[in-house]
Amino acid sequence: MAEIIDGKKISQDIKDEVKDKVAALKEKGVDVSLAVILVGNDPASTVYVGNKKKACEYTGIRSLSYELPEETTEEELLTLIDKLNNDDTVNGILVQLPLPKHIDEDKIIRGISPDKDVDGFHPESVGRLSIGEKGFVSCTPAGVIQLLKRSNVELTGAECVVIGRSNIVGKPMSMLLLRENATVTVCHSRTKDLREVTKRADVLVVAIGKPEFIDDSYIKEGATVIDVGIHRKGEGKKLCGDVDYEKVFPVAGKITPVPGGVGPMTIAMLMNNCYEAAVMQNDLS
Ligand code: GUN
Repeated sequence: MAEIIDGKKISQDIKDEVKDKVAALKEKGVDVSLAVILVGNDPASTVYVGNKKKACEYTGIRSLSYELPEETTEEELLTLIDKLNNDDTVNGILVQLPLPKHIDEDKIIRGISPDKDVDGFHPESVGRLSIGEKGFVSCTPAGVIQLLKRSNVELTGAECVVIGRSNIVGKPMSMLLLRENATVTVCHSRTKDLREVTKRADVLVVAIGKPEFIDDSYIKEGATVIDVGIHRKGEGKKLCGDVDYEKVFPVAGKITPVPGGVGPMTIAMLMNNCYEAAVMQNDLS
């Protein structure tokens, strides 16, 4: 039977640590701040942005909110980002995705200064991660590393398998595990005989976007299973992940639940990235 990795508790610990670090910076006269930009009124994005602002309030980070209408042009958005890039009182810039279809997301991400790229989506941040240089790391995979480390999961030499190759999760996840000296395999929709690969994993990170896809037949006994997925299931709209929790729980060594596993870590790591941005911009590191 698996030990549950409590993402709610670990994310709370991280937010408390950030709160203390932010307060210490304030003593030195540095006020940490995050600009959050939301374009349009997608209901899920509105909830996410609300949660980010709440976390800022909790940790003592000043949040500046820009809620722009759906019709905002790409040029208007780039102008705002440019203004924030040049504003020394703003440490981090976050543009909530997805953006309306008429706006080119890649162009917007590239418009954010890499020094303020607290989401870690800018190609420079991604490049830095891949060559092992200091830079911002995408919050969800950074959160997974914290879950593993704070649950005493040995990564050096471990067989780690990542399912999913997205720019936001799968690719940075594999780079981070490599940085921890794991042996890393990345699987995706075209992988032949997925079970044969996942059965080797000491640590399995699942980010495929298919509800309850991974059952016990994919798991090596005693493996650590990290579920990055989040879906609403059936009529009752109960939350579930990419992993069939009931089936995997008895064979795994450690497992993250949904909700309360990876989910809360993303915002905690965003808060930490904002703190790091302020440290870097004020030459305090
Ligand atoms: N939309 C869904 N997740 C994220 C995230 O981590 N950052 C941003 N900017 N948008 C998102």
